[in-house]
Amino acid sequence: MTAAIIDGKAFAATLRAKVGELAAAFEAKAGRKAGLAVVLVGEDPASQVYVRSKGKQTVEAGMASFEHRLPAETAEAELLALVEQLNTDPAVDGILVQLPLPKHMDEQKVISTINPDKDVDGFHVISAGRLAVGQQGFVPCTPLGCLMLLKDRLRSLSGLDAVVIGRSNIVGKPMAQLLLAESCTVTIAHSRTQNLPEVVRRADIVVAAVGRPEMVKADWIKPGACVIDVGINRVPAAEEGKTRLVGDVDYAGAMAVAGAVTPVPGGVGPMTIAVLLRNALVAAYRNAG
Ligand code: GUN
Repeated sequence: MTAAIIDGKAFAATLRAKVGELAAAFEAKAGRKAGLAVVLVGEDPASQVYVRSKGKQTVEAGMASFEHRLPAETAEAELLALVEQLNTDPAVDGILVQLPLPKHMDEQKVISTINPDKDVDGFHVISAGRLAVGQQGFVPCTPLGCLMLLKDRLRSLSGLDAVVIGRSNIVGKPMAQLLLAESCTVTIAHSRTQNLPEVVRRADIVVAAVGRPEMVKADWIKPGACVIDVGINRVPAAEEGKTRLVGDVDYAGAMAVAGAVTPVPGGVGPMTIAVLLRNALVAAYRNAG
């Protein structure tokens, strides 16, 4: 059997197009564009790539992009003052502070300064709390993107066994909350989990978010399971001096056993920014009353 390939790139393109339509409707109704502010501190090359891509896709979706770039040596107080200014700016519906921040800054303190109603990343403790108790709020983009792919593939998730590998605040924990809210039986596995292959073998849904190249092997996967690979790992390629991207799942192996698998690249990755745009638009509608 060969698994179906879950085309996150195509799904993300469709989602961006839908966001674009709703962004135009918002502008017609509110008399202004929905606005997303992105703050980048320092020159981390990967962060610069993300931020450029976010800005470009925001504009392409018909929303206003406000980019704030601050030098690495910016004082924390200055960043907090900028966040507070964005909190009260009526043109800004969503605020994202790109992580990681320079070492001298307290990330939790910075995130806690964002108005939770503009927290389109869903990283604020109030957003995490709202998700945990089932209140309306914002959900981190990557796990919400994974859930959209799962629901598109499986329709109802109710009663299914789901294993999330990884317990980060950004992916693993919110992913588990989302699956629980869909009435899955959820296990969160991590680096200390005993008999991980056995735990994964029970799962109808596997979400791998550990950052270890090709860790999840074919013989860990229940036949027919739906496998969502959040990992993006750069490893040496066969050709000398070259590298290639792989996920946390042995893709070729999983394809022979699973029912459906997300590829890397082209699976979960493109969903993150598409969901961010969706969250920013939702923020605009909610904040405009
Ligand atoms: N750094 C890497 N991914 C992300 C993200 O989704 N949001 C923020 N704020 N920082 C990141």
